[in-house]
Amino acid sequence: MIKDYKDKIVVVTGAANGIGKQLALGCAKRGAHLVINDIHGDEAEKVAQEIRDMGQKAVAVQADVSLNEECKRIFDVTMETYGHVDVLINNAGVSAFGDVTEIVEQDIHWVTEVNVYSHWYMMGHFIPQMKKQGNHCQIVNVCSIAGLITLSSAPVYFSTKHAAVALSESTYKWLKETNANIDLAVFCPGFVQTEMYLTDRHRPARYSKNDNPFYTSKKYEEYNKMNRYVLDTGRELEPVIEEVFQALNTDNFFILTHDKYDSLIRNQGIFQADKVRPITPEDIAPKE
Ligand SMILES: NC(=O)c1ccc[n+]([C@@H]2O[C@H](COP(=O)([O-])OP(=O)(O)OC[C@H]3O[C@@H](n4cnc5c(N)ncnc54)[C@H](O)[C@@H]3O)[C@@H](O)[C@H]2O)c1
Repeated sequence: MIKDYKDKIVVVTGAANGIGKQLALGCAKRGAHLVINDIHGDEAEKVAQEIRDMGQKAVAVQADVSLNEECKRIFDVTMETYGHVDVLINNAGVSAFGDVTEIVEQDIHWVTEVNVYSHWYMMGHFIPQMKKQGNHCQIVNVCSIAGLITLSSAPVYFSTKHAAVALSESTYKWLKETNANIDLAVFCPGFVQTEMYLTDRHRPARYSKNDNPFYTSKKYEEYNKMNRYVLDTGRELEPVIEEVFQALNTDNFFILTHDKYDSLIRNQGIFQADKVRPITPEDIAPKE
């Protein structure tokens, strides 16, 4: 992986808040120049300004990464501004509530387009350029521990994160087989203290909440409360991001920052090979 960020050009999607913002600031602190994308242009501009105040270059690009033509615009602005690219961080992600019988159909599309399609689109635009350049480049796809194991809650989130991990694994293998000078890693955190509980705030207009009664139901409100609780009780953001940069000093594909899931992942492999069923946390630590 890239160890020296000095004067590297780094593109981060969903970089106005949370994990994306912290990763962008971490790259800038290490000497990189940034492209700060977010669906909220004014918030992206604030982060870009913060980076310019640190003495680095930064340009903000308002774009909805669930749309291919908007991803192409991020690529075009990167080329117009810097002429090349070194690192792509696909971070933008959203979540929606509802089991398979109750989820509002548009939310399956929204979450899939942001969490999975955006990775297809962004890598589709940036990898040919990286290959053409030939210098050492890097892609970090922010997925989730939800891309490696599942719980019964929020199946749309788990299924999209699994798809994003699979896309990353397959692309990683292809990059190696074709001798591309491009490293690829997936970051799969557990809960981190961000404002991801405000995920509905990031809906593009075409997926704004409609009059479906599920959105105003007691159950939706309870999902929201639980989501806020698990995020608020997650790991603190800054130390997690420092661990990501430490992990990027190695050539590991998987970046995992929440040790408490290690045994679940390890034992899941055994459950699968033994043809049992998906593992649950209770298999590891039975409820009293
Ligand atoms: N916070 C956690 O506990 C956690 C855990 C595992 C994985 N993740 C993943 O980390 C990533 C970042 O999450 P976070 O916690 O920082 O969330 P966040 O909600 O704080 O930040 C997400 C950012 O993405 C932007 N965004 C959303 N949709 C977009 C779109 N269509 N186009 C461009 N930008 C868009 C938002 O405006 C926001 O700035 C996500 O992919 C998320 O799934 C988060």
